[in-house]
Amino acid sequence: MKNFTYYTPTKVFFGKGEYKRIGEIVKSYGFQKVMIHYGGGSIIKSGLYDTVTKALDAEGIAWVAFGGAQPNPTLDHATKGMKICVEEGVDLVLAVGGGSAIDSAKHIAVGAKNDCDTWRFAMKQGAPVDALPVATILTLAATGSEMSASAVITNSELGLKRGYNSEFHRPLFSIMSPELTYTLPPYQTACGVVDIMMHTLERYLAKTDNVMIADQVAEAVLRTTIHAGNVLLEEPENYEARANLMWAGSLSHNDLTGVGRDYVMISHQFEHEMSGMFPAVAHGAGLAVVFPAWAKYVYKVAPARFARLAEVLWGITEGSEEEKAYQGILAFEAYFKKLGMPTRMYELDIPEESFIKMAESCIGNATKVLEAIIPYGVKEICDIFALANEK
Ligand code: NZQ
Ligand code: ZN
Repeated sequence: MKNFTYYTPTKVFFGKGEYKRIGEIVKSYGFQKVMIHYGGGSIIKSGLYDTVTKALDAEGIAWVAFGGAQPNPTLDHATKGMKICVEEGVDLVLAVGGGSAIDSAKHIAVGAKNDCDTWRFAMKQGAPVDALPVATILTLAATGSEMSASAVITNSELGLKRGYNSEFHRPLFSIMSPELTYTLPPYQTACGVVDIMMHTLERYLAKTDNVMIADQVAEAVLRTTIHAGNVLLEEPENYEARANLMWAGSLSHNDLTGVGRDYVMISHQFEHEMSGMFPAVAHGAGLAVVFPAWAKYVYKVAPARFARLAEVLWGITEGSEEEKAYQGILAFEAYFKKLGMPTRMYELDIPEESFIKMAESCIGNATKVLEAIIPYGVKEICDIFALANEK
């Protein structure tokens, strides 16, 4: 096990109806003016917007609403939010929604204290030294952004989607009421299941040995997520499945399963190129396409962890280590299909001609070194994209 520093300061309010306490919770911190940041309107349709604004009114807390964060949120939209925060004297940015609203809120909170300019941080040119606090009311179990240090944003002008980590991104508090996810379309629930699995798998499949505790937590997160995904296919309003999935999502990306090892979230890096260049691609759907192809490309170099997953998740015990590993990868693919996810590039309408451009961008036109099980240049990434496009 490697040395590590672990820091997850987010206070979690978890459970049925907890979101109704938003006014009282905000007041307990002493905030006076809140920006409510949300997405395309699902929270208005569900009535959550009304509940939140009334709860703030009841405690005499001023607020300003700023909606319109789109799935795969954009920098130009977040920049408008930064300016509103400065003009209005906002002291807390409250994201109400999924990962997109939350990540957009994180950019807004940093930008409001850094000259309304956060792209330089996303490009790893400097780091923020101050930010407004961020809080969340989560409506989609998927990204783990409600506890994570990352924020991912798309610069539409450049067609680049980039994430960066900062302790300023860790929400001060997150409210997680699983019943808020009942209204999700099945496709979004499935995207969330895949994303949660991927945050866990990307850490688990790193080469570091002797991380027994992190491995076993990861296996529990994976088993729970797969089970919840199966239950929700039949019963979208099963509270226990929604609750377990939601907490699994937070644990998948608050680094509980990553501590003590070195890892690179390689399928995420590939997927961010896909949804950066093709914003209609949902993050989880992109991962469902690229992960099986990546796994097929590298498993023979390090079959042991793939084989162990095949055994513990899918009950595959017959055959050599390599055979089990391969059957396990096919089982992931079959599960994604069962959830209604695409598993090939052409299903996402990503044309073959774009593979080279995405590959070049992924390694920063050869300025970045990427290594996860094997090293990646343009050729390797293009090979993986091609494998993901096979009929
Ligand atoms: O925009 P609204 O109208 O709210 O609708 C959303 C959106 O259309 C809808 N939705 C959310 N909650 C709902 C709901 N519809 C009905 N009922 C509800 N309760 O679902 C759609 C997708 O929402 P979005 O927030 O885009 O999805 P997700 O949570 O998957 O977030 C994806 C973004 O997060 C990034 C992704 O790259 C992508 O940009 N990620 C962020 C991470 C982080 N900050 O730690 C890590 C992840 O790996 C990921 O990269
Ligand atoms: Zn993800």
